[in-house]
Amino acid sequence: MIEKLEQSFRERYNIKPTMLKSPARINLIGEHVDYCNGMVMPAAIDKKLLFAFAKNNSKVINVISENYDNSFSFDLENLSCYQEGSWGIYIQAIIEILLEDGYNLEGLDCNMLGNIPIGAGLSSSAALCCGFLSSINNLFDFNISAFELGLIAQNAEVRIGLNCGLMDQYAVLFGKKNKFIHLDCRNLTHQYLELDLGKYELVLIDSKIEHDLKADSFYNDKRKACESAVRVIAENYPKVNSLRDVDNIILQNMINILTFEEYSSASYVINENKRVKEVANAIIKNDLDTIGQKLFETHQGLSKDFGVSTIEMDFLVDLAKTEESIIGARMMGGGFGGCTLNLIESANKEIVLNRMLKKYQTKTNINAEIYYIAIDDGIQILN
Ligand code: GLA
Repeated sequence: MIEKLEQSFRERYNIKPTMLKSPARINLIGEHVDYCNGMVMPAAIDKKLLFAFAKNNSKVINVISENYDNSFSFDLENLSCYQEGSWGIYIQAIIEILLEDGYNLEGLDCNMLGNIPIGAGLSSSAALCCGFLSSINNLFDFNISAFELGLIAQNAEVRIGLNCGLMDQYAVLFGKKNKFIHLDCRNLTHQYLELDLGKYELVLIDSKIEHDLKADSFYNDKRKACESAVRVIAENYPKVNSLRDVDNIILQNMINILTFEEYSSASYVINENKRVKEVANAIIKNDLDTIGQKLFETHQGLSKDFGVSTIEMDFLVDLAKTEESIIGARMMGGGFGGCTLNLIESANKEIVLNRMLKKYQTKTNINAEIYYIAIDDGIQILN
């Protein structure tokens, strides 16, 4: 893929590009808690979006997607026309933010090629935003720190309409081969944790129900429910600033005051924060059974309390429970579609996973897809 992209860039522009890799991410545990000051445990994986780029000594930024065979051009002197299109709006948002922040952006040519499935909960948009930003940062020596790049990329998502947390951008920028990032979203510090999976591995099953978090309002609505729960609780417990400060005792005391939606969302978040701690301890003890158990519990919480699963993902997790070689599974990412994450014994995995795919096809008429993944480094310049 790298050679193909480099060569097509050379053929088009007659110049050797700089090459950059921007990865997709998974999240072991800590779902829908990043925007609640919680703790998460993502990792970058070996699915990626590649960028080839070079200055073009003009005031125009040209970006081509080789996957979609389409392109967008942005005139830095006249950005007023909003670019329609699935990925062009992210690029435009980033350019706008950089210009507003006073960066001296010049023209560039950029081609992209990748293998991150869209709408599968692997954060293709964070890979796009962080990758494009990092390319610009490299090309014009802006010296923006990785952390700042993450905030700008998050800001671009918010501008487009998704009021997301920082987990995805963080994973894409700070990922490390074979390590999970134990990120504390309250003080934005992280620790790397290495998980020895022994005879097991993590495999994704794509339900092929695509989600578009920014088009559907459910993600922003869930965030609002969590925030309004905090506001109501804080009226009685003034020290509470986020759901991280709320425990189950406080929550029980508030049960008659909170709406059902506020209560069940807060309950999920409080329990998920506990599970992240338990998984961090289990990683240190190499206790895979506990990790698997927590994955099942998280799915239950996301499906029943938080309400962001789908019938299809519930079915995939139920199927996983019937397979002896799968010791944990859950839906992963924002929800309402995308992948399940499965902790599965490597021996015979093809037989087991194909059996699940067949049952899924019979039940839903949908062909799910299996992604074998490896935990990989975050954004990197490749040459
Ligand atoms: C999306 C968001 C993240 C996070 C997850 C759910 O991927 O971009 O910030 O909230 O959903 O954990």
